[in-house]
Amino acid sequence: MSNFKIAAIPADGIGPEVISAGLDVLKALGKVMGDLSFDVTHFDWGSDYYKTHGVMMPEDGLDELKKFDAIFFGAVGAPDVPDHITLWGLRLPICQGFDQYANVRPTRIIPGIQSPLRHVETGDLDWVIIRENSEGEYAGSGGRAHRGMPEEVGTEVAIFTRAGVTRIMRYAFKIAQSRPRKLLTVVTKSNAQRHGMVMWDEIAAEVAAEFPDVTWDKILVDAMTVRMTLDPQSLDTIVATNLHADILSDLAGALAGSIGVAPTANIDPEGRFPSMFEPIHGSAFDITGQGIANPVATFWTAAQMLDHLGRGDAANRLMTAVEAVCGAGVTTPDVGGTATTKEVTDAVIAHLEGRNS
Ligand code: IPM
Ligand code: MG
Repeated sequence: MSNFKIAAIPADGIGPEVISAGLDVLKALGKVMGDLSFDVTHFDWGSDYYKTHGVMMPEDGLDELKKFDAIFFGAVGAPDVPDHITLWGLRLPICQGFDQYANVRPTRIIPGIQSPLRHVETGDLDWVIIRENSEGEYAGSGGRAHRGMPEEVGTEVAIFTRAGVTRIMRYAFKIAQSRPRKLLTVVTKSNAQRHGMVMWDEIAAEVAAEFPDVTWDKILVDAMTVRMTLDPQSLDTIVATNLHADILSDLAGALAGSIGVAPTANIDPEGRFPSMFEPIHGSAFDITGQGIANPVATFWTAAQMLDHLGRGDAANRLMTAVEAVCGAGVTTPDVGGTATTKEVTDAVIAHLEGRNS
């Protein structure tokens, strides 16, 4: 019997709509499995909270979250609050404070969703991108001087540490090793970035020696965009820096048919802190409140959460239902369908319960 304590932070835009759909599906899944339940606590943190309190979450927010097994996160971003405030006020403090240094982004073509690539079908594109999530280009190191003056200067310094690079490489090799193809591609830019990226390459080679059964190769990030587009079958597990993987994962989402179905997990592989699971799509203010947000990314990240919590059986069951529903054409408008969020959610629940409507 597993009972998990989940912190739900739906936050902004369509976040509350998709998180509520995700929680409905998890509840139904728990009932069907019979030995799985969730004890969910909601937090109202986000941009509305910011407008009232001047902060995105209370000062002791992380202490509150520490008590949970996992965090189920919606989206942050509001049209009337600057993005760097919403981001650095909630999501990044959680990622950094809980040392969720591995960002895991699976991509595959879900049945019923069309890849924009000709001749590429479900099964041809099955990747996991491992994004370094604690340092690199997004470490927050830098500053501005002489603001507004002609001589103004802004620096944004990429930080690569031996400890940080080694741990993400080890994590990526382990994920590659756990997948049938045991194949890892290390993304780099060590021709132009001759310090941090050269160290990155050296550490990749050192860590590779610990995983003799994993086949690995190395590719420059610009060439990687070409390979992802023209030869998607040649890739399986991919590891890249914070910035490189940020960009490549958007490309991956597009090549798989829609960024609207892409999930992500912010993992503390050592399990010292709760990990955080979220859809990649963001707050999507243009469709907020219309009931047509695509809940598939949230269902998929719920499956990642179950996997992380040691319930791979439940994760598989959930993904089977999601793929069947999408394959039957029950999809939202962003991926060419006509269904509402609720219709997709109800269809997934019906499939879980064996009522294949
Ligand atoms: C993502 C998002 C974020 C990121 C944004 C909101 C800063 O694009 O999860 O990829 O790049 O980290
Ligand atoms: Mg991004």
